[in-house]
Amino acid sequence: MSTWARAWHDALYGEDGFYRRAEGPSGHFETATHGPVGRALATTLIGLARDAGAHAVVDVGAGRGELLHALRDAGHEGPLLGVDVVERPADLDPASGWVRSPGGAALPSARDVEEALGAPLDGALVVAHEWLDVVPCVVAQVDDAGSLREVHVDPDGTETLGEDVGADDLAWAQRWWPAREPGQRVEVGRARDDAWSGMLDAWRPRAAVAVDYGHVRSQRPEPGTLSGYRDGAVTAPTPDGSCDVTAHVAVDSLRHDELVMGADAVRRWGPSAASPEHDLARRDPAGYLDALARASAAAALLGPPYGDFWWVVARG
Ligand SMILES: C[S@@+](CC[C@H](N)C(=O)[O-])C[C@H]1O[C@@H](n2cnc3c(N)ncnc32)[C@H](O)[C@@H]1O
Repeated sequence: MSTWARAWHDALYGEDGFYRRAEGPSGHFETATHGPVGRALATTLIGLARDAGAHAVVDVGAGRGELLHALRDAGHEGPLLGVDVVERPADLDPASGWVRSPGGAALPSARDVEEALGAPLDGALVVAHEWLDVVPCVVAQVDDAGSLREVHVDPDGTETLGEDVGADDLAWAQRWWPAREPGQRVEVGRARDDAWSGMLDAWRPRAAVAVDYGHVRSQRPEPGTLSGYRDGAVTAPTPDGSCDVTAHVAVDSLRHDELVMGADAVRRWGPSAASPEHDLARRDPAGYLDALARASAAAALLGPPYGDFWWVVARG
């Protein structure tokens, strides 16, 4: 039995952790970085990078390089770097850099990142697409007496209540996720806040965006959101390395300049979801089909689930 935070970290980033497996995250679930939607996402990020005056992109939690490929396809010409816990993927284009990371809340140093990027970080946009939801955090629950206690877990997922949460976690919960009713859960966002701020302070990028599913203070989910993913399906969160373990992100407690909904981000920086003129079909049938595919990929980013993701934007 150990705390959820510890068990979660070991299950994902330990020696045989889930994220060290050969098949990578895309072997278990689809994200907006994949396929034609990935290109529309990349176009949106290129628009944000331009808006922020960044010409390089660093992708934290780069999986097996899916977003890096999409950024090149979408026309990004500046330096590109992927950061993840595994070795450089064999099929990554030679012009893109790669650096290994310890995983979870821990990241490589600014020096290592700049060296691998081949450009200064103050000209870079850092993208963290579905990183923070897999940064393990303290999971707590209100007991029958009204105290907030840390939840402990066995590798098979069996839970028990441990000690009262520490003073810093309690203070975070009181400010960001007040819970009083017995049984209510709190996924204490401090570890995510610190990981994000730590990156901003250490790397000092031109701008950074965390794109993730999350919630704000007025909409915290009372039972919590801790869940597992395996082979494309939602499963019970089991910290034994057999599945992903994830919890939505309390986005408003993260340091930010702007919180933007995914759909608004696409409208502001991304490609148009408007269907091409019918006339194009007659003049250039292949071009028409291509434009139609791009518009429908953009439309996929406007609707659920990706349109409801949060874009947490911090500018340097
Ligand atoms: C949910 S997957 C998302 C992958 C990809 N960004 C996407 O959206 O398809 C989370 C990824 O974050 C990586 N990750 C977790 N902690 C990390 C860290 N500290 N540094 C770099 N990558 C990390 C995991 O190894 C995994 O590949």
